[in-house]
Amino acid sequence: MVAEASRRGFLRSVGIAGGAGMLYSAMGALGLAPVPEARAEAYRAPRNGDFELTGRSRKKVLVLGGGIAGLATAYELGKAGYDCRILEAKDRPGGRNWTVRGGTTLTDLDGRTQKGSFSKGQYMNAGPARLPQSHVTLEYCRELGVPLEVFTNQNANAYIYHEKSAALAGKPIRWRTAKADVHGYVSELLAKATDQGALDKELTAADKEGLIAFLQNFGAIKGKADGFAYTGSDRRGYSVEPGAGFEEGTVLGPVPSLSDVVASGVGQRFSFEFGYDQAMLMFQPVGGMDAIPYALAKAIGQDRITYGAKAMEVKNLPDGAEVTYEDAEGRIRTRRADFVVAAIPPMVMARIKHNLGADVTAALKYPTATPVGKIGLEYRSRWWETDEHIYGGITPTDTDLATIWYPSYGYQGRRGTLIGYYNFGDNAVAYSDLPHAERLKRAVSRGVKIHGDKYRTELDQSFSVAWHRTPHIEAGWVGWPSQTGPEYKLLNQPAGHVYFAGDWLSHVIAWQHGAFTSARKVVTGIHERVMAG
Ligand code: ALA
Repeated sequence: MVAEASRRGFLRSVGIAGGAGMLYSAMGALGLAPVPEARAEAYRAPRNGDFELTGRSRKKVLVLGGGIAGLATAYELGKAGYDCRILEAKDRPGGRNWTVRGGTTLTDLDGRTQKGSFSKGQYMNAGPARLPQSHVTLEYCRELGVPLEVFTNQNANAYIYHEKSAALAGKPIRWRTAKADVHGYVSELLAKATDQGALDKELTAADKEGLIAFLQNFGAIKGKADGFAYTGSDRRGYSVEPGAGFEEGTVLGPVPSLSDVVASGVGQRFSFEFGYDQAMLMFQPVGGMDAIPYALAKAIGQDRITYGAKAMEVKNLPDGAEVTYEDAEGRIRTRRADFVVAAIPPMVMARIKHNLGADVTAALKYPTATPVGKIGLEYRSRWWETDEHIYGGITPTDTDLATIWYPSYGYQGRRGTLIGYYNFGDNAVAYSDLPHAERLKRAVSRGVKIHGDKYRTELDQSFSVAWHRTPHIEAGWVGWPSQTGPEYKLLNQPAGHVYFAGDWLSHVIAWQHGAFTSARKVVTGIHERVMAG
């Protein structure tokens, strides 16, 4: 059972990979309240003038971690002239915001190394890959000049693939077809019930008329004389496309029975696209998600970021804080600052020596790591576009792949890169337990069932990421057993001169928005403290 305050993270997770069916039943069980809209406008960045007007001196801030939260912290404080330095264990900025291209290498915690061999222009966003319109991430893209393009999160031409369902198993069904049938049959039933007086207690005669008019439109059902029957419509798609002259087209058939449509479970996929942070339109940076961390790093100043720096100890001091770390050459160094911001995953921070107290360590160990995996598959042709007319979007499945994503860039080009799985939990572990070549084989064997042999024969390159096996990161995201308990509260406060930041300290976990807003909160906290000092 999921504890009260982890509901949002949990539901978001199941909504992502578990399918709307799981999401709906979980919502029913937990009594979810909607996620409130972010109040990004309440934030005010520190300004140079704040110091000039008051004559205070600018403070030194040491940031652990050059992921989005760490970068945003240094970027925002830098606006007021704070002397910020970032210590990043990896050799690049971004953390989980990572775009894999040709030449990218990754050595997992278990020592297995992969080298990306994607062709020029081909890439996969291994971490975040979609941006909702409400997220503050879009504001940063505007501010930093990161160009955006539409990310297609939902496509009527993509499939729903269920092979474990009680009916229609093993048949890829286009979203548009599934919707036509589910909406059609539900409309038929409700129109009949309404017409036969089953809802007379709830509805006036005018309500009934209005409802039936709506259902006829919504479900494309027949009129009263025909018993409001759903018998299919061109919303299902065509087996022969309409065309010139006398070609009227042939509507896709036959229409499965009501019983089969219900048993197939396809209708339980639709709520995904209603999700507050999954609804179209969505966006992505042109050329790869890592345009965001690189733009932040540039704005901060490359000389302020030390790569290959692994934090070993964090000490709160009466008048500041210090960090001991191992640099890229293996030398042990200590740096002092007025404040330290630990913007690294909680389970990683929990292992770093510190003097912040046992309760801090316990709190850092409290959230649980979610295993998450993704594989990029580069194909020699864009057969999903040429043969199947799928231009972007996602096919959810009930296999261990969870989802297949079609690229939202490079349309009509020669090559293209799919996401062959994006899964979490047990499915992600099952894949990450395998050597890379075996992960690929397994993923392709599932994909072939949906797309046929070309899924194997057109394949050129691949790269798979297991975030829970990735050094210095160790999870796709974390979930809190409770976000109202003392642990969450404790880490949302400074431990002396040491602050914590990250998406994991927000109610928008597993989104860059969570990292940005957490950074803003810490920045505001530090700046107010400095101004009050
Ligand atoms: N926010 C992440 C997603 O959309 C988890 O898949």
